[in-house]
Amino acid sequence: MSGFDPEWLALREPIDHASRDAGVATQLKAHFAARETVTVVDLGCGTGSNLRAMAPLLSARQHWHLVDGDPALLAEARRVLADWADEAREAGERLRIVKDGREIIITVEDVDLTRRDLHFAAMGADLVTAAALFDLVSGPWLEQLVAACIEDRVPLYAVLNYDGIAEWSPRGPLDARVVSAFNRHQRGDKGFGPALGPDSGETLLRLLAAGACRCWSGDSPWRLTRREAGLITATTQGFAAAAREIAPDLAGALEAWVRERRDADAMVVGHTDVFAVP
Ligand SMILES: C[S@@+](CC[C@H](N)C(=O)[O-])C[C@H]1O[C@@H](n2cnc3c(N)ncnc32)[C@H](O)[C@@H]1O
Repeated sequence: MSGFDPEWLALREPIDHASRDAGVATQLKAHFAARETVTVVDLGCGTGSNLRAMAPLLSARQHWHLVDGDPALLAEARRVLADWADEAREAGERLRIVKDGREIIITVEDVDLTRRDLHFAAMGADLVTAAALFDLVSGPWLEQLVAACIEDRVPLYAVLNYDGIAEWSPRGPLDARVVSAFNRHQRGDKGFGPALGPDSGETLLRLLAAGACRCWSGDSPWRLTRREAGLITATTQGFAAAAREIAPDLAGALEAWVRERRDADAMVVGHTDVFAVP
């Protein structure tokens, strides 16, 4: 297991989908509008949320290659996608589904992305995508991926890159210290070397601009209200756990902070989306 709980991924999926920047998604859709078929590689796919969000924007025939380092999440992705589909059939290694008139062939790859070649054109990729992944990766790894996409002329669509902003409403006196500790934790090693954390969106845009890509970007913040009370609680607990680990001096105050913040009226967590065409 990678530590990414499928229940946590399921809890965040509706708000992840609703938060995506519509302008950036429109550019993606327009870019592939004339295509009858499209092959997409989804890095750090988890249980396939990114496919479920993007399939309606893409061609009538799609091949999705789902890549993750957690075999349990990949197995769950196949199960959840088969459930989500109107029709589903296993064909050896492949899962063929039909959803809203689109035929989608799904293959999965269990691999550590730090050990994999990042040139996906060789397997026919028309698009590389990742959701909620790039804040975990290191600068050198992202540089390698962007260089491979540019060299292969494969577009890149990266959504829900955490940008360091988290706010509860009403505000509390400890919020800023907890967010600052969380952001320091975000920059720790998440398996790729020191992570970009809140800098991932900006770093990605800088690398793409240096490679003369056409880029579109936009904010995709979670705007949570009491309708998403469960997600406010879970996210608040996640902030406290990371803060406790990296700033033990906060530990004494965090229990009371969580009790109070999980009942917040609203919460915002900032992200950015980027679409780039080399
Ligand atoms: C925050 S989750 C996002 C999952 C999914 N994209 C979504 O939006 O629900 C990050 C995902 O990246 C995967 N991951 C993290 N490090 C990885 C690595 N080194 N190699 C492959 N996958 C990795 C995790 O297993 C997890 O599924």
